[in-house]
Amino acid sequence: MAGLIPENILEDILSKVDIVEVISAYIPLKRSGRNFKANCPFHHEKTPSFMVSPDRQIYHCFGCGESGNAFKFLMRYERLEFPEAVEIMAKKCGVILPEKQVEDTQTNSLYTQLYKINELAAIFYQEALETAMAAKAKDYLLKRGVSEQAIKLFRLGFAPDKWDGLINHLRAKNIHLSLLEKAGLVLPRDNGGFYDRFRNRIIFPILDIKSRVLGFGARALAGDDKTGAKYINSPETMIYTKGRNLYGLNFAKEAIRVKDYVAIVEGYMDFIVPYQAGFQNLVASQGTALTLDQVSLLKRHTHNVVMVFDADQAGQAATLRMLDVFVEEGMNVKVAALPAGFDPDLYVRKYGLKGFEELIEKADNLFDYKLKSAKSRFNYKQIEGKAKISQEMLPTISKFKNAVLKSEYIKRLSEELAVREDALLEELSKIKEVVPFAPLPQATGKKAFTVNPTEKLLIKLMLEENELIARVRQRLEPDDFQDKKISELVSVMFELTAQGKEAAPSKLVNYLTDTDSLQFICESAFNPGSYEQNKEEVINDCIKVIKHKKLHFLRQRLQEEIKIAEDSGNEEKLSQLKVEFCDLTKKGRKEL
Ligand code: CTP
Ligand code: MN
Repeated sequence: MAGLIPENILEDILSKVDIVEVISAYIPLKRSGRNFKANCPFHHEKTPSFMVSPDRQIYHCFGCGESGNAFKFLMRYERLEFPEAVEIMAKKCGVILPEKQVEDTQTNSLYTQLYKINELAAIFYQEALETAMAAKAKDYLLKRGVSEQAIKLFRLGFAPDKWDGLINHLRAKNIHLSLLEKAGLVLPRDNGGFYDRFRNRIIFPILDIKSRVLGFGARALAGDDKTGAKYINSPETMIYTKGRNLYGLNFAKEAIRVKDYVAIVEGYMDFIVPYQAGFQNLVASQGTALTLDQVSLLKRHTHNVVMVFDADQAGQAATLRMLDVFVEEGMNVKVAALPAGFDPDLYVRKYGLKGFEELIEKADNLFDYKLKSAKSRFNYKQIEGKAKISQEMLPTISKFKNAVLKSEYIKRLSEELAVREDALLEELSKIKEVVPFAPLPQATGKKAFTVNPTEKLLIKLMLEENELIARVRQRLEPDDFQDKKISELVSVMFELTAQGKEAAPSKLVNYLTDTDSLQFICESAFNPGSYEQNKEEVINDCIKVIKHKKLHFLRQRLQEEIKIAEDSGNEEKLSQLKVEFCDLTKKGRKEL
């Protein structure tokens, strides 16, 4: 997370701000012993479980697990990126950020140049839309009900029907063609030279959350099919990755915050038409399945999502499966299905803002929607149908983190299908067993984060007394810790110590990207201190246990390999493995 901002600057800021002051600017804090408490601003609660520690300069909510330091609080509360939070805090406490230094690095200036070129291109297309050669395009937009105001706001444009319209325009501004190529605006000709990528098309600039131009979508004019695809888009460039951005978020973020939900539509026009009609809390996915990045991006603005589907997508298994990503990310998902033949653009034009709002209000929650869809495809009165339906529903149910929701849904499913709850629960438990082995990137690490108690204790002791870290570091490797997240945490602690820096929770937070380990250290910092007198002994015991476990694990693995070598009669490998086994045993005797 620390990224480009120098560590000493971060430390400087953290040493000058008081987390109690930072947080109490947003929510009222009440003293509670050495700490302060409040109702958690990140989840709904009636009794306070949100704790702030002035000693440790961290916060942790025992209700929802949200935790971190002052930067993290600002990021979460104000929905900022890390550098933005740093900037605000730096201003507050009078620390000057070395901006120039950061801006001048080579890659950065290339990024800056690409943004600049895209901006120039966007202006070129915008101006072209107002010329006579764009008459047909302009007319088309107006006929589809896009207002002059919306054309300006969304910076719609027109790419002239020429091979070198943009090239000539930008060449006159002394822009190098290789940069245009890097921005994805031109394509190389077989025999040298370049030509414009977008020609005779309506241009939809794709803006990021700060309204910088990342790339373009370009629509062919109706009845002009000789040009091929209806839409062509900017390719992936240094500044544009399709799956990381959502069309319209920069315009919609305020309305999303106010209404605390977002509607997700597909197309550019499906965004623009409802927006100009007054439905402004929406984004467009640009016709592809949502990625985890996009879900996380939305999560910074709201936890409530309504997917708006066309009738023909609505029942597709792939479409429905995609929605599980939201559940896994702890978001509430609803589904609004449009009648056949409609997309949001058409629906708003036919039924108006009111009609569209009603459609969204009537959206089913994910469970009901999936159940309805499954019931329409399988006969829930027959045994096979019941099995098929539960097969579709259980993976979704298993993704809910909230145990109450999970058990309620199981109950509902059992009633709907007239199947005993325990049978469903048994099937549900099978799903969980399968998850760790399934090669699904999104299924890993989503289980509850439980840390081995010995490792937990050792880390707690190290956090309490930083001097201990160096001593533990002499005897253990980060890899000796079984849990991958813990071993990452330990390696950050070791690294900071090696650099002669403090490894306090409030500092560690800057380096941890994983929420589980972040929560883990903040939570354990609030728990009462342990083993004050015989720390020495406790630490030795912890190290021994951890080493022993590691050894046991390595030995088991070697034994398995030996068995395989024996079975396959691989003598050479076998003797090599046996030597390794002996060495390991010797090493174990020496160390323990
Ligand atoms: N899309 C794309 N490339 C295509 C087709 C579609 O990138 N060849 C993306 C665009 O972002 C488009 C969205 O998918 O806006 C939805 O596609 P579609 O429903 O076909 O188009 P509409 O947006 O409805 O366009 P229009 O109403 O102008 O026909
Ligand atoms: Mn459409």
